[in-house]
Amino acid sequence: MRIAVLGGGPGGLYFAALVKQLDARHDITVWERNAADDTFGFGVVFSDETLGGIEHADIEVFQAMSREFARWDDIDVHRRRTTFTSGGHGFAAMSRKRLLAILQARCASLGVQVRFRTEAPDVAALAAGNDLVVAADGANSLTRMEYAATFRPNLERRRCKYIWLSTDLVFDAFKFYILDTPAGIMQVHGYPYSDRASTFILEMHEDVWRRAGFTEAPGLVPGQSDEASIQRIRDLCAEVLDGPSGGKHSLFANNSRWTTFTTIRCQTWRHENVVLLGDAAHTAHFSIGSGTKLAMEDALALAACLHEQDSMDGALAAYEAERRPVVASTQRAAQASLEWFENLGQYADQDPHQFAFNIMTRSRRVTYDNLRLRDPEFVAGMDEWFAAGQEDARAACPPMFQPFRIGRLELANRVIVSPMDMYSARDGVPGDFHLVHLGSKALGGAGLVMTEMVCVSPAGRITPGCTGIYTGGQEESWRRVVGFVHGKTRAKIGIQLGHSGRKGSTKLMWEGMDDPLPDGNWEVCGPSSIPYQAGSQTPRELSLAELDEIRGQFVAAARAAARAGFDLLELHCAHGYLLSSFLSPLTNRRTDRYGGSLAARLRYPLEVFDAIRAVWPEERPMTVRISATDWHPDGLDIDDTVEIARAFAEHGAAGIDVSTGQVVSDEKPAFGRSYQTPYADRVRNEIGTKYGIAVIAVGAISSYDDVNSIILAGRADLCALGRTHLYDPQWTLHAAAEQEYAGPGAVWPDPFAAGSRRPAAGRTDGPRPRLELIRAGMPRTAHARWRPEPVEQDDAP
Ligand SMILES: Cc1cc2nc3c(=O)[nH]c(=O)nc-3n(C[C@H](O)[C@H](O)[C@H](O)COP(=O)(O)OP(=O)(O)OC[C@H]3O[C@@H](n4cnc5c(N)ncnc54)[C@H](O)[C@@H]3O)c2cc1C
Ligand SMILES: Cc1cc2nc3c(=O)[nH]c(=O)nc-3n(C[C@H](O)[C@H](O)[C@H](O)COP(=O)(O)O)c2cc1C
Repeated sequence: MRIAVLGGGPGGLYFAALVKQLDARHDITVWERNAADDTFGFGVVFSDETLGGIEHADIEVFQAMSREFARWDDIDVHRRRTTFTSGGHGFAAMSRKRLLAILQARCASLGVQVRFRTEAPDVAALAAGNDLVVAADGANSLTRMEYAATFRPNLERRRCKYIWLSTDLVFDAFKFYILDTPAGIMQVHGYPYSDRASTFILEMHEDVWRRAGFTEAPGLVPGQSDEASIQRIRDLCAEVLDGPSGGKHSLFANNSRWTTFTTIRCQTWRHENVVLLGDAAHTAHFSIGSGTKLAMEDALALAACLHEQDSMDGALAAYEAERRPVVASTQRAAQASLEWFENLGQYADQDPHQFAFNIMTRSRRVTYDNLRLRDPEFVAGMDEWFAAGQEDARAACPPMFQPFRIGRLELANRVIVSPMDMYSARDGVPGDFHLVHLGSKALGGAGLVMTEMVCVSPAGRITPGCTGIYTGGQEESWRRVVGFVHGKTRAKIGIQLGHSGRKGSTKLMWEGMDDPLPDGNWEVCGPSSIPYQAGSQTPRELSLAELDEIRGQFVAAARAAARAGFDLLELHCAHGYLLSSFLSPLTNRRTDRYGGSLAARLRYPLEVFDAIRAVWPEERPMTVRISATDWHPDGLDIDDTVEIARAFAEHGAAGIDVSTGQVVSDEKPAFGRSYQTPYADRVRNEIGTKYGIAVIAVGAISSYDDVNSIILAGRADLCALGRTHLYDPQWTLHAAAEQEYAGPGAVWPDPFAAGSRRPAAGRTDGPRPRLELIRAGMPRTAHARWRPEPVEQDDAP
């Protein structure tokens, strides 16, 4: 094959060497505009996992790289003169210049032609004259622009400024230095890459950068560094560079200047016989150290697919199919990490312990369990710190089992069963189904169980199957549910009150969510006459008198809920239902006092809140669920949400439950693991801690590891889990069993105690359950009553 490779960076060179190695008959030319020894940047990082792949693909390259590596295990977080060390991370770094030299030498020895100082010819001409064109021409790829109509790239310029330098201070770990400066917080990412030097990247939000008086240096020519900025950085970072040993260290530049990171994604990486590789196809923020790794892994995959597949088309398709999910996952983690750094200012006052755990778990890929495996002492120290900070300091344990107080309501742990409409009521009356559903969730160990959205009137229902609390019969049935929860479980139970607004009069979820009923529709209403989606009923704009009437329905429902004995009341101001649709500018176009500015759009939901707060028993807390973003460019975003949360906090809310979306049908949500948590995080940092109110995270939080990570990092006080509880109603008890936790944060109901451990499979552990029961504090009489069946035993306990 004749192959043209555009770009002699790590991706292009490694690909060329691998393909030539697999079949020496290939005729491969690499075009590189720079000289062989020109390069930007300093050190590049590899994880042990990537190195494993490189070792197997080309042992010579691997061995040459290994001779260069600076290796370390620790990540040090330096915050306010305290250092936290997390071990077990296993990284290696080397100089980018040396990496390129190794790859260049390998290409030369294999017979790959590398044309340095040569601009690549026009890509269309290359494509016509070669079997394959590999565009490894970096983040500013001309190839990507040339075929933009096919690749459909998305370039997202981010909000931090950074500069890539090096220092002769040889760090002994990966370092994060978090610096408080008069302009705001800045961070240094540092790591050693040889026995003489470390990479030193200074990064900050562009607002901090501007306040600090930095500017884009005018008139810099390629190859020239921004010396004026570097001189200032030397002074700013004196506490890092001058070191405790008293030595003064220098900063070095290499074409170093302020840069803004751009996340690049492409819809496809292939155009006929042209394929994108490395930074040309995708970028991942350097804070998770993965750009070179991704480029080299791409090279590996492409070389292997070309070798394995019979056709060029098949090979390129297989390459993209193999790499795309891996890249997407890395980009998700890198994006979470870069957004975390963009919002660093919100953690200015966070305790250094929590901050250290927070920064370690910022990408959401590294978690509580993951860190515990790597360095049990680090996590044990964090657990102890967290336990000591609780109101009635408890013994250290997984953070999810620490108690919590919303207002005056004491919860046994940090888990909430999220409100979930079951669409299973007749005439709004919760029946046996609801008793069993909510009762089993309460038996399952969660600290708080929420009802579904309970509607304040027949017209306020979403579907004919929704529950209400606007009749005596409904109230009575709810009292039965509450009575069971209070009588038989340790859980607390909250009611969520809402009105469907323009999203009402629709089919049961499994018959067609948000679709109007085939017949028997009732009229829907909203702040403005804007239907939810094509085919939806057009809502009637509510008059002032009707607003008064609905407010009154909320008040009556709250009184009934109080009589039924609920411990907590949540006002549903999310997901596009009536109160939510007052908040969003997309659904509220009113010109009276309830529409217009955010303050005006907040007015009606706040009036409803105040009216309920006035009748809801003072000692029982009220929370508010909000959609923190409409996932729409013209809708509510997190800045508005902070103000909404502030308003409710000032009106007496004891907690904010932070969900997102479902307000408009043309939303574009960015789903992913714990994807709504950054919104809770911001609300907690700006409102929760300031007003002393609880913040609840929700949304695709599915593992106890995620809950522990979120709580310990301070991203939320409580986690609400929805679908996970449908999968496993005893999720909290199972989480306790799996973490070998047997304290007050998750107590098995006495009748279930016999099942308080995972059933033995294959082998049996014989009498061991008894010991666990004793540890769990089960009364002796219960032991006497419970006798394990003798089971086949292949191992002595
Ligand atoms: C501040 C910073 C820190 C980073 N830290 C790390 C890190 O610690 N670890 C890590 O793994 N990655 C890191 N990266 C990312 C890393 O530098 C890139 O992701 C990686 O180099 C991508 O490799 P590549 O081969 O795809 O592209 P590049 O390395 O950008 O190579 C592209 C090459 O193509 C050449 N070229 C482009 N157009 C043409 C043309 N028309 N004709 C001829 N030649 C052309 C360029 O001169 C260049 O040499 C960092 C990046 C930045 C900005
Ligand atoms: C079947 C079902 C019904 C739901 N009904 C409600 C509801 O009545 N009120 C509400 O605020 N959220 C409702 N939600 C949203 C959940 O409370 C939760 O926010 C969402 O499912 C995301 O959490 P999860 O990923 O843990 O499931 C519902 C979700 C499901 C799956």
